[in-house]
Amino acid sequence: MQATLELPKNATEPYKWGVELDAFMSESYDFGDDSLNAIYQKAKANQWDVNVDLDWSRELDSDNPLGMPDGTLLIYGTDVWNKLDAKGRAEVRHHSQGWTMSQVLHGEQAALICASKLAVAEESLSARLCAAGQIMDEARHIEAFGRLVNDKLPISYPMSQSLKSLLGDTISSKALDITNLGMQVLVEGIALSLFQSIVAYSQDPFIRDMVTRIQRDEARHFAIGRITLCRVYQEMSATERKEREEFVAEGAHTLHEHLCADDIWEPMGLSKKECAHLVRNSPVTSSMRRSIFRRLVPTIREMGLLSPRVQKVFEQLQVMDYAAMPLPA
Ligand SMILES: [Fe+2]
Ligand SMILES: [Fe+2]
Repeated sequence: MQATLELPKNATEPYKWGVELDAFMSESYDFGDDSLNAIYQKAKANQWDVNVDLDWSRELDSDNPLGMPDGTLLIYGTDVWNKLDAKGRAEVRHHSQGWTMSQVLHGEQAALICASKLAVAEESLSARLCAAGQIMDEARHIEAFGRLVNDKLPISYPMSQSLKSLLGDTISSKALDITNLGMQVLVEGIALSLFQSIVAYSQDPFIRDMVTRIQRDEARHFAIGRITLCRVYQEMSATERKEREEFVAEGAHTLHEHLCADDIWEPMGLSKKECAHLVRNSPVTSSMRRSIFRRLVPTIREMGLLSPRVQKVFEQLQVMDYAAMPLPA
């Protein structure tokens, strides 16, 4: 096991965002929301235990802990990659996988905060029960990814500036639907596509088992956001919707920047400027990054938020063709 990358001094300081919200309590115990009730019932039936259900005794490949093919690496196939020897390529895998799993872990902690906010402030009792189920799911995901990053991967990373900015806006918004949109649709939509790629490509049975279980939980969270927000945005005025469209446009752009992982090159002694350029211009990596948006784009269309401004951003990111596609299973 290699030494953990030294984190910036402020990485040990907790991030703080103000959250203002009204707690909601009803004396009507009406469980009348069939779609959300079905998700809550599924959440109870599908609970699992990180300690009991995963085989933590399994050793991961020290050169490629997640067992992912090199074609999924951001600089694969470029001149920089082609010049690296076996040791250099293993280092790229370590940094890339350590960075990705660290960002997922930070996202899981933010998801716990957002689900807690929904449990307090959603008006519908069914929506609050779904959020309560999600809180336990997110606690489990923090436990699983935390243990993976701490015990099984050689390197961990602090939150990227892009992710920190999107999570801050999502957590601190006074509008509950924006917290729901930022976390359940944007962040979870991207995470779910990433998890699907890991399950499809990883050669490691432990990683596949862990991510398959988490992916099943995340699909419920994404469905909660989709069902709730499709209804909310149908009723919303054009002016209020415009603010949400702006949030989606900015959020999609921020997530794209985040996924370029600009923080990992310098710690390996590679040029940040050269790698950032390669990552944004290599056809191999752009197809991987594009595919991460395959769930988000049709959902935004379905919610009625595909305004000209949002379309323009999706076109810049070369993901607009997903708008004509159905939501993947
Ligand atoms: Fe999660
Ligand atoms: Fe989640």
